[in-house]
Amino acid sequence: MQRTSQHGNWSSRAAFILAAVGSAVGLGNIWKFPYEAGQGGGAAFVAIYLLCVFAVGVPVMIAELSLGRRGRGSPPKSLELVATDEGQSKAWSGVGWIGTIGAFLVLSFYSVIGGWTLYYVLTSAMGGLENITADASGALFNGFLADSWGLIGWHIAFMAITIFIVARGIQGGLEKAVTFLMPALFVLLVGLAIYSVTTGDGAAAIKFLFAPDFSKVNADVVLQALGQAFFSLSLALGTMLAYGAYLPEDVSIPRSSLIIAGADTGVALLAGLVIFPIVFAYGLEAGAGPGLIFVTLPIAFGQMVGGQIVGTLFFVLLAIAAVTSSISLLEPVVSWLEEHRGFKRPIAAITAGGAIFTVGLGTVFSFNHWAEVKFFGRTVFDNLDFLTNNIMMPLGGLLMVVFVGWFVSRKSMRSELHTITDGQFNIWYAMARYICPIALIIIFLSVIGVF
Ligand code: PHE
Repeated sequence: MQRTSQHGNWSSRAAFILAAVGSAVGLGNIWKFPYEAGQGGGAAFVAIYLLCVFAVGVPVMIAELSLGRRGRGSPPKSLELVATDEGQSKAWSGVGWIGTIGAFLVLSFYSVIGGWTLYYVLTSAMGGLENITADASGALFNGFLADSWGLIGWHIAFMAITIFIVARGIQGGLEKAVTFLMPALFVLLVGLAIYSVTTGDGAAAIKFLFAPDFSKVNADVVLQALGQAFFSLSLALGTMLAYGAYLPEDVSIPRSSLIIAGADTGVALLAGLVIFPIVFAYGLEAGAGPGLIFVTLPIAFGQMVGGQIVGTLFFVLLAIAAVTSSISLLEPVVSWLEEHRGFKRPIAAITAGGAIFTVGLGTVFSFNHWAEVKFFGRTVFDNLDFLTNNIMMPLGGLLMVVFVGWFVSRKSMRSELHTITDGQFNIWYAMARYICPIALIIIFLSVIGVF
């Protein structure tokens, strides 16, 4: 059944790819991936990550984009419509709800961290990192986190940018923003990688990222790699359902998914080639954890010639990556408000953004006033991260592949994925029916502590 989207459409395949790559490439690639690789033994983590991306992530992305395009509504609506077409229970809309609520919660903390990137752009540009010592860099970051009003201000700024773009609609807002920001991101990333590999310790970085040491691999590393693959590919949070809903009928979803996953992985590796040569050249700690970007790297920027410019450009890169992802997190919520509350887009964007901002205060306070307030032994921020990354994403992904693999007819899926050969379709179908559900069930059970 052919439907039209009330929310707008991408003007071309290229526009969609830019937007989807923009969504996928974010803090996950530049902030999380390098530190997780750093802690997970470098190349061994990278190898498992690649397997997770292509064996599980891509088939799930194909499923998610297909469901979005068939339903052409907000995530819950699309799922409901497809379920009705297929004579299945409307309760499948719950999968869209997991996505929409997940996007809401993720954006609430994503925006806080997005605010950090803006603060670091300004600090670096004003020379605040010049000659900074390791202690001073740690103190700068901790001082920033302790200042709740400062964090709130930057959180507002980041959310305002996100709302502004989404309020202007698919073509006038999202598409325009990515057409301008993605090429900028690419130029910055490649430029910084060349600079870093040639002036820093490129050889050590390449060895670290590409020579695997499988002795470091254990079940936790595998779990983390899969979680990271889902997060980095923007899966199971309604984003790809929403972006798929605006997709022209003739665009090949499997091909697009491979391009998006390839670009996302390429950016993560390039980000590693920006960061690690500098880390090694300055004798810093590659396994420094979440502070790698905000604490460790500034020490190097503070010492290198032209560090003020390089550091500023690096944080601009990070901010751009964060914005093109945050707009894709707001979109599922906004599309739902447009449909179900009849809000005009700007009102929907402000309402959703305002509510998400407010929930984000919980994350802001996790770093200061509420640092000691723990539920299940975790701060509010850690709980949100755990709930979305470890529970909602694997569960949402699992339900989605089970739905397309077992509840939607094979014929419907074949007609949606009409551009590939029968052989290619069969491979995808087997992955969606068997491989992905089994992998996700194992992950899910181990997260909830069954083994
Ligand atoms: N993929 C984004 C990143 O890597 C985060 C994200 C997740 C965006 C899910 C949208 C949906 O930072």
